[in-house]
Amino acid sequence: MTTVPADSPLVATSTAPAPARFAATTTVLVCPPDYYDVTYAINPWMDPSVPTDTALALAQWQELRDTYRSLGFVVHQIEPAEGLPDMVYAANGATVVDDVAYIASFRYPERQPEADAYATWLHDHGLRVVASNYVNEGEGDFLVLDDVILAGTGFRSSAESHREAAQVLRREVVTLTLVRPEYYHLDTALAVLDTRRGHEQIAYLPSAFDDASLAVLRERFPDAIIVSEQDAGVLGLNVVSDGLNVVMPVQAADFAEQLRADGFLPAVVNLSELLKAGGGVKCCTMALRFSQPTQVPHK
Ligand code: ARG
Repeated sequence: MTTVPADSPLVATSTAPAPARFAATTTVLVCPPDYYDVTYAINPWMDPSVPTDTALALAQWQELRDTYRSLGFVVHQIEPAEGLPDMVYAANGATVVDDVAYIASFRYPERQPEADAYATWLHDHGLRVVASNYVNEGEGDFLVLDDVILAGTGFRSSAESHREAAQVLRREVVTLTLVRPEYYHLDTALAVLDTRRGHEQIAYLPSAFDDASLAVLRERFPDAIIVSEQDAGVLGLNVVSDGLNVVMPVQAADFAEQLRADGFLPAVVNLSELLKAGGGVKCCTMALRFSQPTQVPHK
């Protein structure tokens, strides 16, 4: 048997400890899929000829909500509206940073009425609501770290909305251009895992971005997790992290291993029914970044 001295570089690299991760108080807004269906196609995942099972979608969604609760998240619910089958994708309603809600302005008419529903809820719950002059789909395309917002364009949110968001939310906004239609929102191609300044961590699928955006990602996040095509293809990147726990689809098994090796704790759910409209865990979830996270006003 060969023994390796404990201080050898071989041992040091193979046993390098994962970075320490910490769970932050996380408050979310979700919308039950009571009226979920695929009645139109605005992304390549959607095929109205494939039947949907609303009861199954609801059961899977309840598992997601219960997972959040069991992790100690503060979970708020908005009332779903009949005739808005995509309203379950709460991430798209707005981007909330420091008590300011920068409201969505949806690209397609089918979803446009959702903006008012989310704006009303956010206003009634103590946020300063700011309407948008440009097409933007909320946290589908705006992913918020402590001092920077990563913003997607190419399919849904306009580049003009990135500039507007920088002013409204008073953060640096970094534009990233998406090039593959199945990864039409930034949150389908990139996951923010740790937002702490100096400890930032993200995961992404390189082939979803143009060359200039890839160069930005490589420079800013040299140690990012790179996921496989297979894991991204089940919307494995569409996750919600509190800094330690990562709520993610059970289908993205290799990504779960990558997360564990990097100090995170995967919590898996199955949202197969909601995938039929092109949405996953993160799509179903709007982060409410109140400046006083424990003092959410109720109405
Ligand atoms: N069917 C919805 C749409 O195409 C899905 C939205 C998914 N949401 C997200 N944050 N990626 O708009």
